[in-house]
Amino acid sequence: MPSPLAESPAWWKEAVFYQIYPRSFADSNGDGIGDLPGITSKLDYLRRLGVDGLWLSPIYASPNDDNGYDISDYLAIGPEYGTLDDFHALSRGLKKRGLRLILDQVLNHTSDEHAWFRESRASQTSAKRDWYHWLDAPAFDKEGRPVPPNNWRSVFGGSAWEWDTATRQYYLHCFSRKQPDLNWRVPDVRRALYDVLKTWAGRGADGFRLDVINMIAKAEGYPDVPRPPGSTEPFLNLDEYGVNQPPIHEYLREMHQEVFSGSDLYSVGETWWVGAHNTLDFTGYDRRELNAAFYFYFHDCTSGREHFENFHKLYQATRGKSWLTVTLGNHDSRRSLSRFGDAANFRHASASLLATWLLTLPATPFLFQGEELGLTDHAYPTIADYRDIQTINRYHELVAAGHLAEQALAEVRITSRDNGRAPLPWDSSSGAGFSTAPPWLPIAEAHRPFHAAGQIHDPGSIYTAYSRLLALRKRMRSLVYGDFIPLADPGQVLSYQRGAWENHPAVRVVLNWGSSPQPWPCDPPAAPALLHANHGGVDYSHLRPWEAVIFVAPE
Ligand code: NOJ
Ligand code: CA
Repeated sequence: MPSPLAESPAWWKEAVFYQIYPRSFADSNGDGIGDLPGITSKLDYLRRLGVDGLWLSPIYASPNDDNGYDISDYLAIGPEYGTLDDFHALSRGLKKRGLRLILDQVLNHTSDEHAWFRESRASQTSAKRDWYHWLDAPAFDKEGRPVPPNNWRSVFGGSAWEWDTATRQYYLHCFSRKQPDLNWRVPDVRRALYDVLKTWAGRGADGFRLDVINMIAKAEGYPDVPRPPGSTEPFLNLDEYGVNQPPIHEYLREMHQEVFSGSDLYSVGETWWVGAHNTLDFTGYDRRELNAAFYFYFHDCTSGREHFENFHKLYQATRGKSWLTVTLGNHDSRRSLSRFGDAANFRHASASLLATWLLTLPATPFLFQGEELGLTDHAYPTIADYRDIQTINRYHELVAAGHLAEQALAEVRITSRDNGRAPLPWDSSSGAGFSTAPPWLPIAEAHRPFHAAGQIHDPGSIYTAYSRLLALRKRMRSLVYGDFIPLADPGQVLSYQRGAWENHPAVRVVLNWGSSPQPWPCDPPAAPALLHANHGGVDYSHLRPWEAVIFVAPE
């Protein structure tokens, strides 16, 4: 039976992307910061691994208050990353190897150092004043200090409103005060942003990852977030009024029409608060808004069962109507192996089980750099070693609230975004092959033994497990387009079938997502045609800890 998913094959449904955090990937010129020539120098590594495309976190001019997610010139490469010529060289290197490129674009906000904001800020009558969200102070306190327009909390802490003393109004910043939010209600703002996307498409991008794209529309009238009973927090999470607001779909449709329609460009939104209940509104084939969305359920999951149930719900809601993505982590999250695996006792087995899950679903997988090496969370010795603005702000909030410095450090270490951002270890040299200079963020000591050079030729390495699974996904298109059919209720053991597709056979996957042995969940195949097993051979009487097996489904 033909799979319902095969209705409209597309390159981005078949692709596996690898996310690069450019600052931390490879430094080519010894300034301690990863850069574009560094990425170009590693294209054979990526080709050999077997991914089909890259997503680059921002590479544009930026004061780096939030590591490039605060853009001061959308069309210029940040000097620390190189030049436009370096970008073209990277693009040529990718094309030569048949690899695609998607760029990160941050259209919700700019840097406060962007020329648009400088002009907007210059006076209340500036021609670009309404390009950002400016509001009067509704009141002043007894000392004459202004009171913010509402109780929205910035994602990075404190009020989402910043008082501009020169022009005596507040501007909105859902992230840091150096990231003012653009006002999408203004048609010229939207047009200017579409031009940015078109320029980069003209320069060779195959698509875009669109940062917090469902935050671009703000609630009309900027209402207060209702206060939960008993809450004394001065500012409250703005989720309800900063995300998924009504004009969002008009804006996304217009953007699609202006930039994407009639082209092969791919769009994937960073879309918090989008899940099984509403993803079709954004990604349905008939909607003409986004091709795909990222789903953040992995942030709340602790077990394989929860991953499975979340994915299955999404699949049931979208089967044949839209195409999913799957990720285990990114530059904003903890390392997936530390969250979902057992690196202390079963490093290889648990990392390769996670790879098996990621690469056997009807969705576009996104690997985050270092997952293929089995990198874990790590702890820098002092707060001074951390660079992530969210980590540093939170640490100071905790200390100000009376926590001991040691306690505050212990707490922020766990969730710090620098867990995923430590420079990639390429070899055993003192700079780990990342740089010859002290890196912008220290090498994580815990990562040193797992450097790439030690793994790429080792048949038993995590890198090799990833590359085998990537090759299998390419060979067995049923792993892309075949229907997804659970074989048993998910527990510690997950088992599912991927339906046949064209001349590719149906395939079964069995995963023991935990550190204890388990019985086989289904009848073991009589003469199993084994496609992949992460413990070497398979003993069909029971599953070993973190065992992951893929075999051709019995007729
Ligand atoms: C989401 C990005 O992934 C994150 O790194 C950034 O801080 C915020 N958006 C703001 O742009
Ligand atoms: Ca550099």
